[in-house]
Amino acid sequence: MAIEIKLVAPQAVQKDIQHYMRPGVLQLQSLPPLSLYVHLPWCLKKCPYCDFNSHEAGKGASAMEVPEQRYIDALIADLEGALPLVWGRTIHSIFIGGGTPSLFSPQSIDRLLGDIRARLRLEADCEITLEANPGTFEKDRFKAFRGAGVTRLSVGVQSFNDAHLKALGRVHDREQAIAAVEEAAASFETFNLDLMYALPGQTMPDLDKDLDVALSLKPPHISIYHLTIEPNTYFAKFPPQIPEDDTAYEMLDRITERTGAAGMQRYEVSAYAKPGHRCWHNLNYWQFGDYLGIGAGAHSKLSFAHRVVRQVRFREPKLYMDNALAGHALAQDDEVKRKDIPFEYMLNALRLREGFKLMDFTERTGLPITAIKTGLDQAQAKGLIERDAATVKPTERGFDFLSDLQSLFLA
Ligand SMILES: C[S@@+](CC[C@H](N)C(=O)[O-])C[C@H]1O[C@@H](n2cnc3c(N)ncnc32)[C@H](O)[C@@H]1O
Ligand code: SF4
Repeated sequence: MAIEIKLVAPQAVQKDIQHYMRPGVLQLQSLPPLSLYVHLPWCLKKCPYCDFNSHEAGKGASAMEVPEQRYIDALIADLEGALPLVWGRTIHSIFIGGGTPSLFSPQSIDRLLGDIRARLRLEADCEITLEANPGTFEKDRFKAFRGAGVTRLSVGVQSFNDAHLKALGRVHDREQAIAAVEEAAASFETFNLDLMYALPGQTMPDLDKDLDVALSLKPPHISIYHLTIEPNTYFAKFPPQIPEDDTAYEMLDRITERTGAAGMQRYEVSAYAKPGHRCWHNLNYWQFGDYLGIGAGAHSKLSFAHRVVRQVRFREPKLYMDNALAGHALAQDDEVKRKDIPFEYMLNALRLREGFKLMDFTERTGLPITAIKTGLDQAQAKGLIERDAATVKPTERGFDFLSDLQSLFLA
């Protein structure tokens, strides 16, 4: 018999709006743009490298085993609880991430977006991204997501090599990956392709073959990540043989060179786009914009006139649903300490090729430029940034040694 775990959030986590509006140490003249993140936490199978909040839907799972309607009820209860914190603000982008959101039926995504629109004002050209996995779609499923209002698909391909896909524990093969990308291209004006490199057993010619296929599909945007062995994953317990660091650096250079030759610009550490196809939602994270995150384990960053607040929702899906439906989805709610804000800003802004404007630092953090002066002077002396009176951007060297650069701004 299943054991019912009843965990009620401590009252202290739920605060009323006056608490966020009271005087504090920051002076924000205006609030930044606001995005909405929606987390859908189920996958067909847990990948051995993945430390995202994703849960197997059950053996031989079908969408039937995911409690779609109850979960959407919980998301909407969660959103309603958060509305007072974002009252009057417009949403510029929505990202439905996971997990594997494409496990949800197009009808459920249609209901979710309709319920969101009924409660929040969206920008007319609001970017709405949905993460989709090859192997979770039948023909025309992506078109139906488009019909539900999704404007951008992010397809999790990882590799086009069957042996590498197997080593990564993926549920799809090369043919399904190609079919998914072709379907995305046919259904959406803009889409992203997620790849990983420095895979177990991968050589430079293997990477070139992955890039050949990826680029032949003409994606307007590619996100490509160095495979990381994350703690608490299967790969951390049973580490696979992965390429040496030097090879991985060479691979990254090759990726930047070949995507560049295909007309894509590396505008962020892991993101490459053709003109006009940058991801608005991710740019907002890197520019220290605000985001409300709803769903299991979702994170939020919200600004008020005198503070910046971070929140986390309950992580485990059932616990999240029970608590959200009872009106208390929050597991944590903390004000970012004044001394930590410069580092948090720089951690994000320095990931961007074009860097940031000094004016934006003041506007987004409510702090004077003097808060980062020492770090900027040190970074410039080390050749890690270039700056003029208005802007700061990482140099090639700064981009290559990003964590050293970012750490100069630690409190
Ligand atoms: C939220 S995840 C999952 C999206 C989708 N469920 C999938 O797996 O295709 C987004 C991306 O992060 C990347 N990623 C996940 N775990 C990683 C790891 N350990 N190292 C590097 N990249 C990783 C993958 O490229 C993945 O597509
Ligand atoms: S499908 Fe994506 S989210 Fe799910 S376990 Fe694999 S990498 Fe993680």
